[in-house]
Amino acid sequence: MKILEGKVAIITGSSRGIGRIIAEQLADLGAKVVINYSSNPEKAEEVMEGIIQKGGKAIALQADISKLGDVEDLFTKTIDKFGKVDVLINNAGLMINKPLADIREVDFDKQFSVNVKGTFFACQQAMLHMENSGRIVNISTSVTGQMFPAYSVYAGTKGAVEQFTRQLAKEFGSKGITINAVAPGPVNTELFNIGKTEQQIEGMKKMNAFGRLGEPEDIANVIEFLVSDKSKWITGQTIRVNGGFI
Ligand SMILES: NC(=O)c1ccc[n+]([C@@H]2O[C@H](COP(=O)([O-])OP(=O)(O)OC[C@H]3O[C@@H](n4cnc5c(N)ncnc54)[C@H](OP(=O)(O)O)[C@@H]3O)[C@@H](O)[C@H]2O)c1
Repeated sequence: MKILEGKVAIITGSSRGIGRIIAEQLADLGAKVVINYSSNPEKAEEVMEGIIQKGGKAIALQADISKLGDVEDLFTKTIDKFGKVDVLINNAGLMINKPLADIREVDFDKQFSVNVKGTFFACQQAMLHMENSGRIVNISTSVTGQMFPAYSVYAGTKGAVEQFTRQLAKEFGSKGITINAVAPGPVNTELFNIGKTEQQIEGMKKMNAFGRLGEPEDIANVIEFLVSDKSKWITGQTIRVNGGFI
């Protein structure tokens, strides 16, 4: 029997990037997975079809996780289709890097509404709907510890995510649910690559112990452990997954 057989997992922002690989790996382990996206149905359906073709179970659901009503609908539709929610991966996120003097109100609000508000209210839905031995993993970033110019708002959003993770552990513990954060270093996805020069990317590769970028699989492999029964004594923690970047 596969280790996530019978479990239902929502992975926010799983139409591409790190979320896509998490969804595919959890489906390979037997979970029924919800592929969530905000604006790109084709990509989400491609992920869903790929999982179904391999014999897995998946649905694609649109929900802008910065909107509370969409987050509530995401849980309601998941429960209508699969009957429950056992695993929540708060992965959807965006990054707008600018020096302090150039940051506009909209840049600040967008990042806080997706990265912080979205994660927080998805956790609230998990509290309302998730049962004993549920698993929540929030995606942070290693730049909460490695300071770069122009990352201030983004790093601030993820600092809040790490604090929620610590703060909520005892509330979720009373229901037998664990909540942890995974903080990747630079990972080879659109979010990281867009707007960077080849030289900047090469510089980033040199900052870890192995001289390469992380790949989404490097992150998803740790998520596999954190959603398994083997991680049941770990909660409220942030685990940096970055090849020694910091
Ligand atoms: N890549 C890195 O180097 C890195 C490092 C550390 C941490 N992270 C974190 O890892 C997570 C995933 O990053 P990634 O690199 O995989 O990003 P990505 O390649 O840009 O993918 C982002 C995903 O999130 C979805 N999304 C964006 N806004 C959304 C919203 N409002 N509601 C629902 N879904 C939304 C996108 O769907 P649509 O296309 O439909 O909008 C897409 O599926 C983020 O939280 C990011 O901060 C990434």
